[in-house]
Order: sequence, then structure tokens, then C-alpha cells
Amino acid sequence: MTEEGPIPDGDRVEVMLSSETIQARVAELGAKISREYEGKDLTLVGILKGSVPFMSDLMRSITVPIQIDFLEVSSYGGSMESSGVVRLVKDLSHPIVGKHVLMVEDIVDTGLTLRYLMELFAAREPASIRIASLLDKPEGRKPGADFTVDYVGFSIPNAFVVGYGLDLGGYFRNLPYVGVYSPPEE
Ligand code: IMP
Repeated sequence: MTEEGPIPDGDRVEVMLSSETIQARVAELGAKISREYEGKDLTLVGILKGSVPFMSDLMRSITVPIQIDFLEVSSYGGSMESSGVVRLVKDLSHPIVGKHVLMVEDIVDTGLTLRYLMELFAAREPASIRIASLLDKPEGRKPGADFTVDYVGFSIPNAFVVGYGLDLGGYFRNLPYVGVYSPPEE
């Protein structure tokens, strides 16, 4: 992933989901996941780097014993358009055979990233695979990537958002809220 370019202007970010709104929803998802995975051997798989804040808050709101792992894929190449090309940059550290896997993603847009990962992981014979995504942009979905996102924080319209893990050219991941970024006029 290329993360070069000018430092974007934080004044161009307009809050869509406040930190409080996100925290409340993540707590609800954590409670639901805890109920549904009671007695199961659950591994949360965070997709780097965008899932980091969501993964960190979600795992602490889950009350059943879990393990965690991470993988990294490259997707947008630093621009605001999906390239549709997915590359595995870092694989999991541990096998998932026989485990219940919950993929933790920041946002599902075209669905191409998760389609690729679901196919890759299905071949490794986990007990189950489900998806938790903080955000879902259902209007962005490409044909063939019409899988279910099992745990969705918020469904949002087709805008480019940053913050709480989501980036523009590598910036803004540290914002505690999610906001819409408006690029300057050309
Ligand atoms: P998909 O493969 O198109 O579903 O895209 C998934 C990935 O694209 C996410 O994990 C993000 O890294 C990135 N992405 C999609 N929409 C946005 C956005 O609005 N802001 C920042 N990144 C995004």
C-alpha cells in the first residue's frame, strides 16, 4: 500500500458517528457475540490496519474466552477508489482448522476483500467463519460479493469516511469518531 502524498486537512472531516455512538454500538455487538459464541472456541481475526480500534474495543466487550490473530491485505493503494485488487501482505500466525473464526473488518464496500479472504479461509477448514464489520456500505457491493455481514455496527450511505481505523492515504486512523472527508476542489 502506498501511503505517500500530502498530509490531508483534518478540517475537511465532518463527524458522522461520534465516539460515544460507536462505543455504545460496539458494546451491543460484543454482548451479542458473547451470547452466540458461548462454549465455542472463538478466534477473532483482525484485518490490519483498519480494524485496529474496532478490534481493540470489540474484544474487550466480549465476555467469553477468545483468541486473536491478525492478517494484512492491501486494498485501496492510498487512493479513494477501490482497485479491486487484493493482496495478502501478512498471513495469520496460527492455524484456524477446527476454530470458530470471526473476521473483524472496519468497513465492507465492494466486498472484494472479504470475498477473497472467505475463499482463502474456507479452504483451511475452520468450524465456522463469520464477519463483523463496524461499517457497511451496501450500495458499493460488486456482483459475486453478496455475502452476509453477520455483525454490522452501522450501515452507511456511499460516502468516503475516515477515522476509527479508516484512513485516507494512511492518515486519520487515530480519530475516535467516523467522519466524511470532503476533498478540496481541483
Ligand atoms: P472492499 O474490498 O471494497 O469491501 O473494501 C474494503 C476496504 O476498503 C476496507 O477495509 C477499507 O480499507 C477500504 N475502504 C472502503 N471504503 C472506505 C472508506 O469510505 N474510507 C476508507 N477506506 C475505505
